[in-house]
Amino acid sequence: MRIAIVGASGTLGRAVLRVACAAGHQVTAIARAGLASPPPGVTVRHADVLTGTGLRDALVGAETVIDAVNFKKPSLLAPGTRAILDVATDLGLRHYVGISVVGCDRVPHAYYRGKVEQEACRFAEGWDPAVAEAFPPGSASA
Ligand SMILES: NC(=O)c1ccc[n+]([C@@H]2O[C@H](COP(=O)([O-])OP(=O)(O)OC[C@H]3O[C@@H](n4cnc5c(N)ncnc54)[C@H](OP(=O)(O)O)[C@@H]3O)[C@@H](O)[C@H]2O)c1
Repeated sequence: MRIAIVGASGTLGRAVLRVACAAGHQVTAIARAGLASPPPGVTVRHADVLTGTGLRDALVGAETVIDAVNFKKPSLLAPGTRAILDVATDLGLRHYVGISVVGCDRVPHAYYRGKVEQEACRFAEGWDPAVAEAFPPGSASA
């Protein structure tokens, strides 16, 4: 499958990149400043989801987009995801995979409120997204 990973330079994105390559997928790794030492065969694209710079070009040809972007400012989570979904919709991508945090809807914390808003926009635009829930960093089950 042709998979685009947005946020491929991050903690989760790097792990997903390794797994996707090992499984034989055709992978485009996307981050603002590119990627240090990408695995062989990976196409690297520069894009900024907030400004939109490079995003459309980076997603052209993909069938699936994996959204592994993260922001220190939680209020940016939903706009970042919405920008990815808008371009993905426009290009007719078939699948969107997002990452959530286990229990984010039950913990009164600014970052988790941002994750809940991000979830809402993932489900709002007619997509049937796959959303994987990861344990928060440092939790006993992480
Ligand atoms: N890490 C964990 O333990 C954990 C646990 C549970 C859930 N999650 C979820 O997993 C996802 C990824 O988290 P993470 O910890 O892997 O994040 P991270 O290590 O902070 O990586 C963030 C990624 O987002 C990219 N990014 C930031 N701003 C961007 C922009 N404007 N345009 C394009 N890319 C941008 C960064 O790339 P550049 O800066 O290179 O552009 C980087 O690849 C998040 O949804 C998070 O909630 C993570």
